[in-house]
Amino acid sequence: MLPAVLKDGLRLPVIGSPLFIISHPELTLAQCKAGVVGAFPALNARPESQLDEWLAEITEELAAHNAAHPERQAAPFAVNQIVHTSNRRLEHDLMMCVKYKVPIVISSLGAVAEVNDAIHSYGGIVLHDVINNRHANSAIRKGADGLIAVATGAGGHAGTLSPFALVEEIREWFDGPLLLAGAIATGGGILAAQAMGADMAYIGTPFIATREARAADGYKEMIVGSNAADIVYSNYFTGVHGNYLKGSISAMGMDPDKLPVADPTKMDFDAAVSGPKAWKEIWGAGQGVSAVKAVGTVEELVSRMEREYAQARQRLAV
Ligand SMILES: Cc1cc2nc3c(=O)[nH]c(=O)nc-3n(C[C@H](O)[C@H](O)[C@H](O)COP(=O)(O)O)c2cc1C
Repeated sequence: MLPAVLKDGLRLPVIGSPLFIISHPELTLAQCKAGVVGAFPALNARPESQLDEWLAEITEELAAHNAAHPERQAAPFAVNQIVHTSNRRLEHDLMMCVKYKVPIVISSLGAVAEVNDAIHSYGGIVLHDVINNRHANSAIRKGADGLIAVATGAGGHAGTLSPFALVEEIREWFDGPLLLAGAIATGGGILAAQAMGADMAYIGTPFIATREARAADGYKEMIVGSNAADIVYSNYFTGVHGNYLKGSISAMGMDPDKLPVADPTKMDFDAAVSGPKAWKEIWGAGQGVSAVKAVGTVEELVSRMEREYAQARQRLAV
């Protein structure tokens, strides 16, 4: 059963996933107003006091939008918390989520009962992102309400498992909210995620190439000009395997097909292991880039996916 916050008033069963550096209130608000859940990493608000301002802005603007558009309510928003020793702000950022009663919290990396308890204290829900069934199991045992299965081909710190295998394994024992991530970039992809057993799609890369995203124009254009073969899976930049645009690596003078292997104990979201800065100069993207044909607004992207979703449903109904 999907909780109301993941169902009511959504135009599409989609969360616009949190993107380091790139997601900020303008993108999140555009996603919510377009009818999909908008999300941003708490760490994008810097210094940490800015999180209070961002949450006030988002909460107030969504309330104003909903008052002005009773016929088209905005989708709720989500905040991503990186639960890792390198994140020294976690306690502060969680307090902010409690203060503003953030409806959905997405926890990444560590599954920790205290995080879930804090969010449950005011009726919020926690979705934990995982790349395998073992982590999924542990997250639910520690009190997460739902799971985000990050399969192969996803942008950022992706997994290696086939989405078919991963959803199947999780659905053998878990009937709660389940999202699927990894190269979903069309309405047909969203419907496919539901057909294989997920409730919703979790989509990142296509939102990077929107006007509202806080990314360099060259980054947006490179997503438009790339296809799946232009994505490389490497742990060199953060110590954890992720998918990146080969073009951004070549631009830094490195050979994307001959990257050294990094030390996983050095993972830090603030600093690259060595060389150019991951995320700022080395651009993350998933294998779904081919479906992104132009830089447009969030509303245009969601409208395109809505059309494709309806067409895919029709095609399958015949
Ligand atoms: C540039 C970039 C930055 C990301 N930053 C974060 C992050 O800060 N926190 C997080 O939980 N996931 C992050 N992700 C992962 C996404 O939230 C999501 O899992 C992924 O984009 C889904 O795959 P897709 O890009 O193929 O749609 C990032 C992904 C990308 C491409």
